[in-house]
Amino acid sequence: MKTLIAYSTTLGCTEQCASKLKDDLGSGVEMVRIARRQKYTLEQYDTVIIGGSIHEGMIQRSVYKFCVNNLEILLQKQVGLFVCCMDPDANEKELIDRAFPDELVGHALSSGFFGGELNIKKMNLLQKIMTRKAARLQKEPDIDFQKILDFARKIQEL
Ligand SMILES: Cc1cc2nc3c(=O)[nH]c(=O)nc-3n(C[C@H](O)[C@H](O)[C@H](O)COP(=O)(O)O)c2cc1C
Repeated sequence: MKTLIAYSTTLGCTEQCASKLKDDLGSGVEMVRIARRQKYTLEQYDTVIIGGSIHEGMIQRSVYKFCVNNLEILLQKQVGLFVCCMDPDANEKELIDRAFPDELVGHALSSGFFGGELNIKKMNLLQKIMTRKAARLQKEPDIDFQKILDFARKIQEL
Protein backbone atom coordinates (compact mmCIF):
# COMPACT_ATOMS: atom_id res chain seq x y z
CA MET A 1 0.00 0.00 0.00
CA LYS A 2 1.42 3.38 -1.00
CA THR A 3 0.76 6.44 1.15
CA LEU A 4 1.48 10.11 0.60
CA ILE A 5 1.62 12.68 3.38
CA ALA A 6 1.06 16.10 1.79
CA TYR A 7 1.59 18.91 4.27
CA SER A 8 2.29 22.57 4.65
CA THR A 9 4.24 24.13 7.48
CA THR A 10 4.91 27.77 8.31
CA LEU A 11 7.39 27.32 11.16
CA GLY A 12 8.30 23.61 11.02
CA CYS A 13 5.94 21.99 13.52
CA THR A 14 3.61 20.34 10.99
CA GLU A 15 6.65 19.03 9.14
CA GLN A 16 7.87 17.46 12.40
CA CYS A 17 4.45 15.85 12.95
CA ALA A 18 4.31 14.63 9.33
CA SER A 19 7.76 13.11 9.76
CA LYS A 20 6.76 11.34 13.00
CA LEU A 21 3.62 10.06 11.28
CA LYS A 22 5.74 8.75 8.39
CA ASP A 23 7.96 6.86 10.87
CA ASP A 24 4.93 5.47 12.73
CA LEU A 25 3.35 4.27 9.47
CA GLY A 26 6.44 2.36 8.37
CA SER A 27 7.38 1.50 4.77
CA GLY A 28 5.74 2.73 1.58
CA VAL A 29 5.17 6.29 2.79
CA GLU A 30 6.29 9.44 0.99
CA MET A 31 6.13 13.03 2.19
CA VAL A 32 5.66 16.14 0.07
CA ARG A 33 5.50 19.77 1.13
CA ILE A 34 2.57 21.44 -0.60
CA ALA A 35 3.66 24.33 -2.77
CA ARG A 36 1.49 26.85 -4.54
CA ARG A 37 0.87 26.32 -8.25
CA GLN A 38 2.45 22.86 -8.21
CA LYS A 39 0.61 19.93 -9.81
CA TYR A 40 0.56 16.58 -8.03
CA THR A 41 0.19 13.04 -9.37
CA LEU A 42 -1.91 11.27 -6.80
CA GLU A 43 -3.03 8.28 -8.91
CA GLN A 44 -0.20 6.06 -7.66
CA TYR A 45 -1.23 6.33 -3.99
CA ASP A 46 -3.84 4.28 -2.13
CA THR A 47 -3.91 6.67 0.82
CA VAL A 48 -3.36 10.43 0.94
CA ILE A 49 -2.91 12.18 4.30
CA ILE A 50 -3.18 15.98 4.26
CA GLY A 51 -2.01 18.26 7.07
CA GLY A 52 -1.40 21.90 7.86
CA SER A 53 -1.29 24.41 10.70
CA ILE A 54 -3.67 27.10 11.89
CA HIS A 55 -2.61 30.74 11.68
CA GLU A 56 -5.09 33.47 12.57
CA GLY A 57 -7.83 30.88 12.64
CA MET A 58 -7.16 29.48 9.17
CA ILE A 59 -5.22 26.59 7.68
CA GLN A 60 -2.61 27.54 5.04
CA ARG A 61 -4.35 28.59 1.84
CA SER A 62 -2.11 26.23 -0.14
CA VAL A 63 -3.51 23.25 1.82
CA TYR A 64 -7.12 24.21 1.16
CA LYS A 65 -6.35 24.79 -2.52
CA PHE A 66 -4.57 21.44 -2.75
CA CYS A 67 -7.76 19.79 -1.48
CA VAL A 68 -10.03 21.72 -3.86
CA ASN A 69 -7.80 21.25 -6.93
CA ASN A 70 -7.45 17.50 -6.33
CA LEU A 71 -10.89 16.83 -4.86
CA GLU A 72 -12.06 14.45 -7.57
CA ILE A 73 -9.08 12.10 -7.22
CA LEU A 74 -8.96 12.46 -3.42
CA LEU A 75 -12.55 11.23 -3.21
CA GLN A 76 -11.37 7.98 -4.83
CA LYS A 77 -8.60 7.49 -2.22
CA GLN A 78 -8.41 6.62 1.43
CA VAL A 79 -7.94 10.02 3.05
CA GLY A 80 -6.65 11.20 6.42
CA LEU A 81 -6.65 14.83 7.61
CA PHE A 82 -4.75 16.52 10.42
CA VAL A 83 -4.02 19.95 11.83
CA CYS A 84 -1.53 21.53 14.24
CA CYS A 85 -2.30 24.55 16.41
CA MET A 86 -1.76 26.00 19.89
CA ASP A 87 -5.22 26.89 21.17
CA PRO A 88 -5.66 24.73 24.31
CA ASP A 89 -9.45 24.98 23.96
CA ALA A 90 -9.49 23.93 20.31
CA ASN A 91 -12.02 21.29 19.41
CA GLU A 92 -10.75 18.69 16.93
CA LYS A 93 -13.99 18.36 14.96
CA GLU A 94 -14.45 22.12 14.66
CA LEU A 95 -10.83 22.56 13.56
CA ILE A 96 -11.07 19.87 10.88
CA ASP A 97 -14.51 21.06 9.68
CA ARG A 98 -13.20 24.58 9.31
CA ALA A 99 -9.85 23.72 7.73
CA PHE A 100 -10.90 21.35 4.92
CA PRO A 101 -13.65 21.27 2.27
CA ASP A 102 -16.88 19.67 3.57
CA GLU A 103 -16.92 16.90 0.97
CA LEU A 104 -13.40 15.84 1.91
CA VAL A 105 -14.17 15.92 5.64
CA GLY A 106 -17.19 13.68 4.99
CA HIS A 107 -15.05 11.28 2.96
CA ALA A 108 -12.01 11.16 5.31
CA LEU A 109 -11.52 7.91 7.23
CA SER A 110 -9.29 9.41 9.88
CA SER A 111 -8.72 12.90 11.25
CA GLY A 112 -6.52 14.28 13.98
CA PHE A 113 -5.43 17.34 15.95
CA PHE A 114 -1.80 16.89 16.98
CA GLY A 115 -1.25 20.00 19.13
CA GLY A 116 1.52 22.36 18.13
CA GLU A 117 4.64 24.34 18.86
CA LEU A 118 5.42 28.05 18.60
CA ASN A 119 8.82 27.93 16.94
CA ILE A 120 9.99 31.40 18.00
CA LYS A 121 13.44 31.05 16.42
CA LYS A 122 11.86 30.78 12.97
CA MET A 123 9.37 33.65 13.41
CA ASN A 124 9.66 37.02 11.75
CA LEU A 125 8.96 40.16 13.79
CA LEU A 126 5.28 40.34 12.83
CA GLN A 127 4.69 36.71 13.82
CA LYS A 128 6.44 37.34 17.16
CA ILE A 129 4.22 40.35 17.87
CA MET A 130 1.07 38.51 16.81
CA THR A 131 1.74 35.49 18.99
CA ARG A 132 2.74 37.64 21.96
CA LYS A 133 -0.61 39.43 21.69
CA ALA A 134 -2.60 36.23 21.31
CA ALA A 135 -2.97 35.48 25.02
CA ARG A 136 -5.13 32.44 24.37
CA LEU A 137 -2.33 30.58 22.60
CA GLN A 138 -0.38 28.13 24.68
CA LYS A 139 3.31 29.09 24.65
CA GLU A 140 4.95 25.79 25.62
CA PRO A 141 5.47 23.10 22.94
CA ASP A 142 2.58 20.67 23.07
CA ILE A 143 2.83 18.12 20.26
CA ASP A 144 0.77 15.06 21.13
CA PHE A 145 2.93 12.18 19.86
CA GLN A 146 0.48 9.58 21.19
CA LYS A 147 -2.26 11.07 19.00
CA ILE A 148 0.05 10.81 15.99
CA LEU A 149 0.66 7.14 16.79
CA ASP A 150 -3.08 6.50 17.25
CA PHE A 151 -3.75 8.21 13.90
CA ALA A 152 -1.09 6.02 12.24
CA ARG A 153 -2.63 2.85 13.72
CA LYS A 154 -6.05 3.84 12.40
CA ILE A 155 -4.60 4.38 8.91
CA GLN A 156 -2.83 0.99 9.09
CA GLU A 157 -6.13 -0.72 9.90
CA LEU A 158 -7.75 0.56 6.68
C1 LIG B 1 1.34 34.32 13.58
C2 LIG B 1 0.75 33.09 14.20
C3 LIG B 1 -0.63 32.96 14.32
C4 LIG B 1 -1.20 31.82 14.93
N1 LIG B 1 -2.55 31.73 15.03
C5 LIG B 1 -3.10 30.64 15.65
C6 LIG B 1 -4.51 30.52 15.78
O1 LIG B 1 -5.28 31.34 15.31
N2 LIG B 1 -5.00 29.46 16.45
C7 LIG B 1 -4.19 28.50 16.99
O2 LIG B 1 -4.68 27.58 17.63
N3 LIG B 1 -2.83 28.55 16.83
C8 LIG B 1 -2.27 29.60 16.18
N4 LIG B 1 -0.92 29.69 16.02
C9 LIG B 1 -0.08 28.59 16.50
C10 LIG B 1 0.33 27.62 15.37
O3 LIG B 1 -0.82 27.00 14.82
C11 LIG B 1 1.26 26.57 15.94
O4 LIG B 1 2.44 27.20 16.38
C12 LIG B 1 1.58 25.47 14.95
O5 LIG B 1 2.22 24.42 15.62
C13 LIG B 1 2.46 25.99 13.84
O6 LIG B 1 2.73 24.95 12.94
P1 LIG B 1 3.85 25.15 11.81
O7 LIG B 1 5.14 25.37 12.53
O8 LIG B 1 3.84 23.89 11.04
O9 LIG B 1 3.42 26.29 10.99
C14 LIG B 1 -0.34 30.79 15.41
C15 LIG B 1 1.05 30.93 15.26
C16 LIG B 1 1.60 32.04 14.66
C17 LIG B 1 3.09 32.14 14.52
